[in-house]
Amino acid sequence: MDRLTSAFGPDFERGLRIMLDAVARAQKDDFPGASTTDMAAELGKLAGLRGRPPFFDYLGSGLGRGARVRLADGRWILDFTLGIGVHIFGHGNLDLIETAIRAAASDIVMQGNLVFNHEYPAMMEALLAHAPAGIDRCWLALSGADANENALKLLRQRRGGRPGVIAFHGCFHGRTSAMAEITDRPDYRVGQPSTFPVHYLPFYDRDDPSSAAKAADALRKIIARDGDRIAALLVELVQGEAGFRTAPRDFFVPLFEQCRAAGIPVWVDEVQTFGRVTELFATTWLGVEQYVDVITVGKMLQGSALLYRHELSPDPGLISGTFSGATVAMAVGRRIIEKLTAENFFGPDGREKQLENLTRKHLAQLSQRHPTKISHIDGIGAMVSFRVGDGSLNQTREFIQRAFANGLALYYGGHDPACVRLFLPAGVLTDAELYEAFEIMDRCV
Ligand SMILES: Cc1ncc(COP(=O)(O)O)c(C=O)c1O
Repeated sequence: MDRLTSAFGPDFERGLRIMLDAVARAQKDDFPGASTTDMAAELGKLAGLRGRPPFFDYLGSGLGRGARVRLADGRWILDFTLGIGVHIFGHGNLDLIETAIRAAASDIVMQGNLVFNHEYPAMMEALLAHAPAGIDRCWLALSGADANENALKLLRQRRGGRPGVIAFHGCFHGRTSAMAEITDRPDYRVGQPSTFPVHYLPFYDRDDPSSAAKAADALRKIIARDGDRIAALLVELVQGEAGFRTAPRDFFVPLFEQCRAAGIPVWVDEVQTFGRVTELFATTWLGVEQYVDVITVGKMLQGSALLYRHELSPDPGLISGTFSGATVAMAVGRRIIEKLTAENFFGPDGREKQLENLTRKHLAQLSQRHPTKISHIDGIGAMVSFRVGDGSLNQTREFIQRAFANGLALYYGGHDPACVRLFLPAGVLTDAELYEAFEIMDRCV
């Protein structure tokens, strides 16, 4: 029996069943009672309040089913953006709605770092049960950037206040002041001061056979010159915002070994890769557990977390805050981990790998039909990317807007060249829906 059912009595369980049955019936019948709104007017109002227009004419109605979402104007679209990689189980997932309702009924909306309800330790346990070997401590936080801030503070403290970070060209780590300083996008920090040293290594380039040697050489020089001012090496094992750029294990291992020899901890930012790379952790997928000291996760967790080896535990007062997550988000995040690890998503025969293979097959066919227009296919599992035309931001955005007008929401990554990123809703996407998405893309090329 669920904890709350025993506290609230059988009426709670009966009421919950009635609600869930109503949602399931409405989903099946395409929400016959759903109203529509003047989406353009609402989005115009939003743009006015925010001072910036939205990227798409997308205002969700609050209704959806699987890979499809119903917009406020009643239009249905296939969603391959997923709130930039958050909703791996798509829209209107009844299992997650049930989890959310149960959590919503339990006392408080938000949890923090002074007193905890059941959902907080349960989320930590779920994460650590599947974390790479040796990673045995956890702090929850609200966003990916928030978890990354905590990681940076922890690492600096354990490294005696050394301020610097070694990162990679093309990296993205969030939009707080410190994360914007590390993120390799000067255009995202216009008007912001530089307050600590950030050194960049070249990321793997599959067209350059000496790519690994170049990165190793650059790291050697940084360590020789500035090694005693470095807090950590920070890496995305698959670069997210740069366009789902992958690199082989052999690229990373010599870098991690150099760091180990120099006493520099390795911090893997898995905010975007978490749950998408045919394993829960990219660190495990690449088999680099023994080199990794700190991992940050977010997005599909519905919150975020800093995971680390116990030797790195922070001193009192370094990490805390009023909020560490919403009760519903913690419960749903934990259920997502349970579902992903129990329902055959991972491994070489799991659903994510199947979808990656099928997506690559569709992309290869699209590229055959439009040889000058589709190229540079990359990614892994539920994150696959490709280049459109010359990869200019203009052409890429134009393609995305055309796809959106035809019923498919896509998003881009990288700049000069940019690419289209497919965030696949692997928890629910059918082969037929993937086929339909490619029919739309074929029309839009
Ligand atoms: C690798 C990586 N780190 C950090 C972040 C920041 O996460 P958030 O937007 O939740 O602060 C992102 C967001 O896209 C990301 O991709």
